[in-house]
Amino acid sequence: MIRRVNVLALLIIGALALAFSGSAAAKTCERVIEGNDQIQYNKSKLVVGADCDKLKVTLKHVGQLPRKQMGHNWVLALTKHFQDIAQSAASAGLDSGYIPDDDRIIAHTDLIGGGESTSITFDVSQLKAGNDYTYFCSFPGHYGTMQGKLVVK
Ligand code: CO
Repeated sequence: MIRRVNVLALLIIGALALAFSGSAAAKTCERVIEGNDQIQYNKSKLVVGADCDKLKVTLKHVGQLPRKQMGHNWVLALTKHFQDIAQSAASAGLDSGYIPDDDRIIAHTDLIGGGESTSITFDVSQLKAGNDYTYFCSFPGHYGTMQGKLVVK
């Protein structure tokens, strides 16, 4: 009986410790970017502090055109991989949100249409300060004008 109580107490203490360390230590940073009906983002650079544990990127489509005609997403990759991924996105199709099955994609949002908003949260530990990262819209034909740099520092 005593042993059982002790085990239970330890479990509770452990759970509390986990909850506290999780909430106290994890720092989620948020960045917001817009896409419009002119195939543009409103930012060509996003900067994230290396002290952020997680980055939440919110994409707002401030245009009015529908997803299938003027869809936007936010896809992140190393700059050296981005054109390769962007060029294979068209064949991935609208149903997949023009996201190819490619593990070089670090993070991506859903594909949205005018008036919609979407977010993605991912671990900053996947990124390294000094690496060259590009974000882009993978809707066919959009990455030429819809691209920017993510800088970790
Ligand atoms: Co787009």
